[in-house]
Amino acid sequence: MVKEVSQKPWGGRFQEETNKFFEDFTESISYDYVLAFAEIKASLVYAKALFNAGLLTSEELSLLEKALLEIEEEIRKGAFIFRKEYEDIHMNLEKALFEKVGEIAYKLHTGRSRNEQVVTDLRLYLVEEEKQIKKLLLEFIRETIIKAEEYFEVVMPGFTHLQHAQPVLFSHWIATYAEAMRFHYERLLDLEKRLKLSPLGSSAFAGCGFPLNREFMAKELGFLAPHPHSVLAVSSRDFALEFVFILTLIMLDLSRLCEELVLWMSQEFSFIDLPDSLCSGSSIMPQKKNPDAAELIRGKTALVLGNLLQLLTLFKNLPLSYNRDMQEDKPPLFQALETTKASLKMATLLIKSLILKKERLENLLKEGYLLATELADYLVTRGIPFRKAHHLTGKIVLYAQKRGKRLEELTLEEFRNFSPLISEDIYNWLTIEHSLKRREIPGGTGRKTVKNYLEDFKKWILKEENP
Ligand code: ARG
Repeated sequence: MVKEVSQKPWGGRFQEETNKFFEDFTESISYDYVLAFAEIKASLVYAKALFNAGLLTSEELSLLEKALLEIEEEIRKGAFIFRKEYEDIHMNLEKALFEKVGEIAYKLHTGRSRNEQVVTDLRLYLVEEEKQIKKLLLEFIRETIIKAEEYFEVVMPGFTHLQHAQPVLFSHWIATYAEAMRFHYERLLDLEKRLKLSPLGSSAFAGCGFPLNREFMAKELGFLAPHPHSVLAVSSRDFALEFVFILTLIMLDLSRLCEELVLWMSQEFSFIDLPDSLCSGSSIMPQKKNPDAAELIRGKTALVLGNLLQLLTLFKNLPLSYNRDMQEDKPPLFQALETTKASLKMATLLIKSLILKKERLENLLKEGYLLATELADYLVTRGIPFRKAHHLTGKIVLYAQKRGKRLEELTLEEFRNFSPLISEDIYNWLTIEHSLKRREIPGGTGRKTVKNYLEDFKKWILKEENP
């Protein structure tokens, strides 16, 4: 009999001990241990499928089940020791199982490959993460809509090119972020179709050589169906890439929100204040109160964007089917999830506690010729083609600017010098309320429209919160 040199599961064909540095270099247990619960869940189902196919006796099945549940409990209690020598979560659990039930533990590997295990675990893990992200999105959305209602009456200058453009309800402006998050929420729902597919039964890549019931395993694990292709099942992480893409979109919108919060809190804008509890000061300048959390969300967006790029690059030029490169999918994936969850939570707090400086906004409405579009539109109603009306209004704005007057401060005579078509009713048009009223169009910033929009949105939130 040949003496076994290697203790590894693949030791049979090996005649040397594994190099220690190689071991450290190739391990993944330092981060894939978080898949432990998913691995156990999948193993329990796999054991049942083996039993159903006559590959385990009922005693063996109950021994395995009992041992797996014990291991689960040990992990939960923090009593389980994950070892680098055993490389990854799959081998760590197999070893632990062996210690409990001896060689029966190895039967669990009948027809099973780590290639399908790891991707099954990842999918199960992401199903749970997806639930959490959806919940955090709903909380962000709810607080944003509440804030919109709190300041429903407030009008602010809307911006394009960061220049004052047209009046807009603050509620309409801030609800932009709620709507953006609702889109991401629905993207996640759509992702479920591709995420909730069971790889089990794909084995290494060619499909399992034993007649396991794939439908059964998929159902037991809460998946929608078995993955339709064994090679693709173990070769692809499309669902994870798509997930991180959605996380990136979430972060991009949070980053834009935070950019606005930072600007709004500056002395120059002075639109909002944030409570002391959510700001920090300077170690040298005693007067400072900084919106660090918003800045950090903006900064952390770079991480998630980098995670996405890392993942996309990982799969470029990767031949089918499983390649060890794929082990590197986990750190960026986990970082993207953790960063996005924390950022969503923080952004929700910021939105919830921001205080609007209403007077400042009211005063700003008088500046910046926010009603110039109204004047141009008025001229259109008098039969002037829009381009010409635009041109003429530009001239009137320039004229008013030179005299330090607002549009509504010009006399009728001054207006009529530009166009005799202008009459007394122009002054009705040059008010903030009139400009809002003209925008009672679906999706617009009219007061009634926004009120209904917020009501409908609240109904949607309730529906999603209590499915
Ligand atoms: N730790 C590996 C990973 O995360 C598990 C799959 C290993 N498969 C293999 N054939 N070496 O990808």
